[in-house]
Amino acid sequence: MTIRNKKFGWANIEIPVLGQGTWMIEGDQLQERKAIEALRLGLDLGLSHIDTAEMYGNGRAEELVGEAISTRRSEVFLVSKVLPQNASYKGTLKACERSLKRLKTEWLDLYLLHWQGQYPIKETMRAMETLVDQGKIRFIGVSNFDLDQIKEAEQALNHHRLLCNQVLYHLGDRGIERHLIPYCSAQEISVVAYSPFGHSDFPSLHSKGGKLLSEIASSRGRTIRQIILNFLTRNPAVFTIPKASKTQHVHENSGSTDWDLLKEDIEIIDQAFPAPDYDVPLGML
Ligand SMILES: NC(=O)c1ccc[n+]([C@@H]2O[C@H](COP(=O)([O-])OP(=O)(O)OC[C@H]3O[C@@H](n4cnc5c(N)ncnc54)[C@H](OP(=O)(O)O)[C@@H]3O)[C@@H](O)[C@H]2O)c1
Repeated sequence: MTIRNKKFGWANIEIPVLGQGTWMIEGDQLQERKAIEALRLGLDLGLSHIDTAEMYGNGRAEELVGEAISTRRSEVFLVSKVLPQNASYKGTLKACERSLKRLKTEWLDLYLLHWQGQYPIKETMRAMETLVDQGKIRFIGVSNFDLDQIKEAEQALNHHRLLCNQVLYHLGDRGIERHLIPYCSAQEISVVAYSPFGHSDFPSLHSKGGKLLSEIASSRGRTIRQIILNFLTRNPAVFTIPKASKTQHVHENSGSTDWDLLKEDIEIIDQAFPAPDYDVPLGML
């Protein structure tokens, strides 16, 4: 089983189609130990894109990621996010320092504004550019940005480019396929799909759609989750970061990238979980 890599945005780098989410990995000692084990297994399997945020567990997720990658920093494409309430110029610089400390690293590969808040985007992007110039982050991105916001963020940057937009994307929420993915793709901004299993809104196996997924999975020798992850990342601009704190889940998910869904399977999924044929606001969790 190999993880497929793809070119990430305009940058001259490839990262795995599938990364690892870390929202809600914190908990009691046993749960945290298992989450660290799962992250390390993910790295062994090639899931080197790790997504975290200062928000997750009030910094606890970053600490756990720091522990998981402590001897393997160079293998990881490490992503964290600044909260909008911290995203003033100075606040962004300070938040980044705190994240670096918790993650026990000198740099982030990608730093995202978690969602747009009260501070002008120009101010946050200026701080992001300072962080790149200081070598504290390699690339700049945003999260939960719809089309107009992406354009504003691009314009707010002076001497660096936007690399990625991390947004909600799962079978029950395919609104980004209308305009956001095509625009980002044309601009060489990668789209990272969060909550690919709908967070806690996974299709019921008793529903019509669930039964169709189950049929496709068994006829192709895959699991339903592998079918879903493969479907969501079929566009070259799209990556995804499922969260799995159980090692068997990491194993299963890692088998979702090194093959292609058949055209007829894509058509069935398209009909069972249709993308809207009208504009919808960007979904957000
Ligand atoms: N930028 C943003 O605003 C934003 C918002 C939400 C999420 N995110 C990022 O995206 C990541 C993923 O989204 P998410 O955590 O909301 O939800 P998700 O990835 O859609 O779903 C996670 C759930 O699926 C379960 N799961 C994973 N693989 C499985 C498998 N093979 N079989 C059965 N269950 C499986 C996990 O269980 P176990 O943990 O028990 O393995 C967990 O309960 C987050 O962790 C976070 O890093 C970003």
